[in-house]
Amino acid sequence: MNQKYALLFKPFSFKNGIELKNRLIMAPMTNFSSNPDGTVTEQEIRYYERRSEGVGMVITACTNVTANGKGFPGEFAGDTDEMIPSLRKLASAIKAKGSKAILQIFHGGREVPPELVPNGDVVSASDIPSGEGKPVPRPLDAPEVESIIRDFGEATRRAIEAGYDGVEIHGANGYLIQQFFSPHANRREDQWGGSLEKRMAFPLAVVDSVKKAVAEHGDDSFLVGYRFSPEEPTTPGITMADTLALVDALSAKKLDYLHVSLMDFWSEPRRGVEDKRPRIEIINERVGDLVPVIGVGSIYTADDALDAIKTGVPLIALGRELIIDPDWVKKIEQGKESEIVTKIDKTKQEELVVPDPLWKAIVSTPGWFPGVD
Ligand SMILES: Cc1cc2nc3c(=O)[nH]c(=O)nc-3n(C[C@H](O)[C@H](O)[C@H](O)COP(=O)(O)O)c2cc1C
Repeated sequence: MNQKYALLFKPFSFKNGIELKNRLIMAPMTNFSSNPDGTVTEQEIRYYERRSEGVGMVITACTNVTANGKGFPGEFAGDTDEMIPSLRKLASAIKAKGSKAILQIFHGGREVPPELVPNGDVVSASDIPSGEGKPVPRPLDAPEVESIIRDFGEATRRAIEAGYDGVEIHGANGYLIQQFFSPHANRREDQWGGSLEKRMAFPLAVVDSVKKAVAEHGDDSFLVGYRFSPEEPTTPGITMADTLALVDALSAKKLDYLHVSLMDFWSEPRRGVEDKRPRIEIINERVGDLVPVIGVGSIYTADDALDAIKTGVPLIALGRELIIDPDWVKKIEQGKESEIVTKIDKTKQEELVVPDPLWKAIVSTPGWFPGVD
């Protein structure tokens, strides 16, 4: 290995002592490839196996914690105990390749396709659709809110029983947890909405529920991370100022990591702060030594990753890059970083071990992946 990349391969220890062999993580990516009953498929397992060898930790695609939270066709489920063997199959496949396995847990809220949820009942914090032509969600009543909070705890218990090393609470990308934090989606006037503090109440209650499940069913070695999107484009919408307040509250919860969901690691704030530095740097500085931060977004080359880690962000996640080139990490380790592929080769589905539904989505969505115009 070219020694200038040694920083990327320095082992990392979480506060609970759990060690990652390097600083590179597979980002959570939905693959649309599970069975209709919510169990994982062989194709999906092979896809993860092919990508679990080089990285220190794999964060799975999101799994729904309740039936009415299913956000995608072919999503794997984490909402019943019957799913534990399926969840275990995935955890074992990832861990057998030497990586930590983290289950991403979520509820799609107003973003769920009505045909995927019981009775087409799309729920959210309030009755605000996410855009034109999108379903008008039904606002959850207070007992339902409490019930979903408990369901995040239940999904965590299942993750523990299935052998995962941790869970990542998916509070990003516009799904239910973010909807409660968002002044666009959340117009409630009860304990779950209104002021900034009240918009934070649901995300923080989910964290408490997950941590309680770990205390009851697991031990200190089980990791709990939280992923969030720092800003929303809408007005009203989440601003950097809101996010920094959330980050303070999350840091006080003694989470194992925070994961900042971005398409571009270097993206700059839209509003809410005067600071013009990249969002990730502002957040990492705010968090200080309290919680390690994962950065992500368009880190295509070894030098991109080196530049990112030199900002002081301790952990780097790779999404599309590992679909395009499953040997991304190994190539750097072997001094072959110049051979990393950075555009999808549309003739290589089999070689890249990508399940059909994910492959179809990639090659039919212009601009999503480099190499698809
Ligand atoms: C196919 C695909 C599926 C994704 N699914 C999820 C998901 O289930 N959960 C999540 O938090 N982010 C999801 N993302 C976002 C990625 O985790 C990541 O933040 C984004 O792709 C930017 O990183 P990259 O440039 O390394 O791909 C997905 C991205 C892609 C490309």
